[in-house]
Amino acid sequence: MADTPKTKNLKLRSQEWFDNTDNPGMTAIYLERYLNFGLTPEELRSGRPIIGIAQTGSDLSPCNRPHLELAKRVREGIREAGGIAIEFPVHPIQETGKRPTASLDRNLAYLGLVELLYGYPIDGVVLTTGCDKTTPACLMAAATVDIPAIVLSGGPMLNGWFNGDRCGSGTIVWEARKLLSAGTIDDEQFIGMVAESAPSAGYCNTMGTASTMNSLAEALGMSLPGCASIPAPYRERGQMAYRTGKRIVEMVHEDLKPSDIMTREAFENVIVVNSAIGGSTNAPIHINAIARHIGVDLNLADWETHGLDVPLLVNLQPAGKYLSEDFHRAGGVRAVVAELMKHGLINEGAVTANGKPMGDNCREAKITNADVIRDFDTALTKKAGFKVMRGNIFDSAIMKLSVISDDFRRRYLSDPQDPDAFEGRAIVFDGPEDYHHRIDDPALEIDERCLLFIRGTGPIGYPGAAEVVNMRAPDYLIKKGITELPCIGDGRQSGTSGSPSILNASPEAAAGGNLALLKTGDRVRIDLRKGSADILVDDAEIAERRAELEAEGGYKYPESQTPWQELQRAVVDQLSDGMVLKPAVKYQKIASR
Ligand code: FES
Ligand code: MG
Repeated sequence: MADTPKTKNLKLRSQEWFDNTDNPGMTAIYLERYLNFGLTPEELRSGRPIIGIAQTGSDLSPCNRPHLELAKRVREGIREAGGIAIEFPVHPIQETGKRPTASLDRNLAYLGLVELLYGYPIDGVVLTTGCDKTTPACLMAAATVDIPAIVLSGGPMLNGWFNGDRCGSGTIVWEARKLLSAGTIDDEQFIGMVAESAPSAGYCNTMGTASTMNSLAEALGMSLPGCASIPAPYRERGQMAYRTGKRIVEMVHEDLKPSDIMTREAFENVIVVNSAIGGSTNAPIHINAIARHIGVDLNLADWETHGLDVPLLVNLQPAGKYLSEDFHRAGGVRAVVAELMKHGLINEGAVTANGKPMGDNCREAKITNADVIRDFDTALTKKAGFKVMRGNIFDSAIMKLSVISDDFRRRYLSDPQDPDAFEGRAIVFDGPEDYHHRIDDPALEIDERCLLFIRGTGPIGYPGAAEVVNMRAPDYLIKKGITELPCIGDGRQSGTSGSPSILNASPEAAAGGNLALLKTGDRVRIDLRKGSADILVDDAEIAERRAELEAEGGYKYPESQTPWQELQRAVVDQLSDGMVLKPAVKYQKIASR
């Protein structure tokens, strides 16, 4: 194999298994079963890097299924560069299949992958990413173990079309659901409409959590440039798989590890890019988790500091009108980064998986459709980032200011002198079942100045944190033309939803947060300028409600249904801190210990 100038000639960690002269007995045992599927001693003992292909695709996870085929091209790339490919399964995570919620399994897949990467003879790994939680799970594990690692996105689906219009994943469900509520379509038309949004293999074609996290993996520097946006069925996807396979072998020789790439500078780039692409509100949870596992100090305040004032450049659903195929053809992540670089918002020196700085990878990239990817002058909104909200019912929560419409301002304005202060009456639900059961109940007297609250939906209350804060208005309001009410909760919101919400409230009700003290009928005041959300109840009343709740044994939430739910609930952190498993954070760079 050709030596590059960067080659460090380090002893490969796989040789501790396959070429350990101190322990020939163990070496023989380790070798024997890998030979047994046709590999030869010459291959395993010749200093060729053993490259894991962490396979997230399976029949259980359709969004990542293209990886079953792509892995063949990855293998060819690995072999071409002189490595040996070893493919193994990662615990599947399918957003649309797993009950009660796929996010319960992010930390489970993380744990499993850490054990595989640490405990087997693997020198470097290709992380096959796609559906929402697969990307963070893989990157979190790569961070903990810190062996050379590279992301290969499986790619989004092709654009969906319905009646001549683009229809995108997730987003179409919210639209179609409103039509069903209003009686405009029947059940069969409802299913038909939703199915049109998924015309091919691949993950969601909107800028939901999947496209967000794959774009951010590229912005972080963990994939080859241009990897994120290529649609799954495009020929470029197979070519990217081959090049990714080749590159990981070089990365092993260069000893280019996640800790060299996932630096504070790289994470700041991620926050900026997330605003510019209109990224999911799930991004801070996952990105903060990856940062914690690699040991980079990153918190919610950083998202406001670096991200709030960044304009929205990418015109993709749910914030805009186009879909993933359009994004790819318009230039993808590189073109976005190039535009951000012109305004000094990117740390250009951040090293990336191809060994070059982010600036060099993106500088020449062109926007080839100026409506899909805007420049700063034609941006869709000026401040596309997240505002961190605080108040007497939670320590932190996030909100996208860009979704505040004129209609919202008119309905909730509390003081004509102060256009940023709003008030409304709280309607409180305990968990998704309670919400589904009661949302259309006329007894709640929900009107167009109410705010919908949901609690019991955080990492402990609803194990893994439910993606339910984007609650719909009751049918009787939708029929009157009020389709959207502001929502606040200790759970998450689908990345494909664009409703005005205050999300990820921490601490959650089940962890002792004051959200547990809120009552239907309370007045709530939101001040967007100050970044505050408070119930207009005095401190003495809050203390009284707290004492009552404690006397009843605290906030009640459903029991665990599986062993993993119970294990995770005991050690999981809050959404503000990445929902990581708290005891896992101290295990860093474990492959080099
Ligand atoms: Fe898998 Fe959206 S459901 S990416
Ligand atoms: Mg989602």
